[in-house]
Amino acid sequence: MYKEICSKYAPTKDNLIYILHEIQDTHPQHYISEEAVEAVSEYLKIPSNHIYGVLTFYTMYSTKPRGKNIIRLCESPPCYIKGSDNIMRKLRTELGVEEGGTTKDGLFTLELCACLGVCGNAPVMMINDDVYGDLTEEKVEEILEKVRRRK
Ligand code: FES
Repeated sequence: MYKEICSKYAPTKDNLIYILHEIQDTHPQHYISEEAVEAVSEYLKIPSNHIYGVLTFYTMYSTKPRGKNIIRLCESPPCYIKGSDNIMRKLRTELGVEEGGTTKDGLFTLELCACLGVCGNAPVMMINDDVYGDLTEEKVEEILEKVRRRK
């Protein structure tokens, strides 16, 4: 599977982040395994420790298995001022996990992130590729319920 993804891209170092993105996006647990790193290292002919350097530099990558739905709550100042800490508290309570944690059913992983570029709708979070703004605690409950039903 990893070789198949790699082969869609020319074997140049410039394609590293695109390949890593696709590997992570297509993995059901949204992460990049050791096996994937080895495959990419072999394909691009770059040392695996260089790839790990990239993986740890960019917060969007994970080397640990995550949930089916990745929740990223913005923690930058405009969202913080509008109460993102209350939203975080609500998410922790609803999901029963701390930041970086994955729910037991594997449905959600809770993460913090920097500005998502929609500060006018603060506080904001993303679940996978969907953006949710003007969050309130009630809205969080509704959104999680909707995502759970999609299961
Ligand atoms: S500060 Fe949260 S979206 Fe910009």
